[in-house]
Amino acid sequence: MYLLKDKRGYYRLFDTSDGKTHYLKYLGKDPKPYLDTLDKGNEILEALKEYPDLALKGGQAALAEYKRRKMPRIKSNGKQYQTIVIDPPWPMEKITRDVRPNQFDFDYPVMSIEEIKNFKLPVNPEGCHVYLWTTQKFLPIAFSVFESWGIKYECLLTWVKNVGFTPFSFMYSTEHCLFGRCGSLSLLKLGKRLDIAAKVRQHSRKPAEFYDLVREVSPEPRVDIFSREPHEGFDQYGNETAKFTEG
Ligand SMILES: C[S@@+](CC[C@H](N)C(=O)[O-])C[C@H]1O[C@@H](n2cnc3c(N)ncnc32)[C@H](O)[C@@H]1O
Repeated sequence: MYLLKDKRGYYRLFDTSDGKTHYLKYLGKDPKPYLDTLDKGNEILEALKEYPDLALKGGQAALAEYKRRKMPRIKSNGKQYQTIVIDPPWPMEKITRDVRPNQFDFDYPVMSIEEIKNFKLPVNPEGCHVYLWTTQKFLPIAFSVFESWGIKYECLLTWVKNVGFTPFSFMYSTEHCLFGRCGSLSLLKLGKRLDIAAKVRQHSRKPAEFYDLVREVSPEPRVDIFSREPHEGFDQYGNETAKFTEG
């Protein structure tokens, strides 16, 4: 169930439990008295109790925004790196789930394009290699993200997966990572292939083979930004850096 607030400030309650949206109840201007009598396990309603303004956004978007607001702020360690791997939480996930109102569980909070562009990369200005993971949808935007960061695009790495998904189009069986540089910093090894064949694991988890390649080509100090597991030779930055080491 979720709430929607109209332009005049009146709330209405909708049920989406069967995957379709059904209008349930008119709640007037103050939804709070009703929230307590409703399904306690519903994360969206819990979120709305704390931040009623989120009702303006509707169900899934409200929950995503709630998770963003609750997320602990992470500080940079002030270090500058010669190699940066960055795998941003592109806003696609939010859009995908918005068309599946029955799914209440987000894997992680997402960032807007503006936030990603404004993210301060901890580059060593003398020279830095940057690897930016993107999705099929955000590939064109990833080039403008590089521009915002002052990184010169050089080439595109392609992860060739063993499986893919078919969003009413081709089977999306590849994922891509832009490689670029700032300053002058040579590659440790020349002639490595741009394609990486590796199996898919959990949602959005990047293959160990990619990190092997980066270790061969790009020097320390290295950092993995928005990391969800430790990789040898990389510092980590992210809000769930031990996700895949907790069993
Ligand atoms: C695309 S996933 C990274 C996947 C990871 N590279 C892997 O291979 O498993 C994006 C990550 O960024 C995290 N995240 C989202 N917003 C963040 C923020 N503002 N600060 C830190 N981490 C954030 C998410 O929780 C998620 O863990």
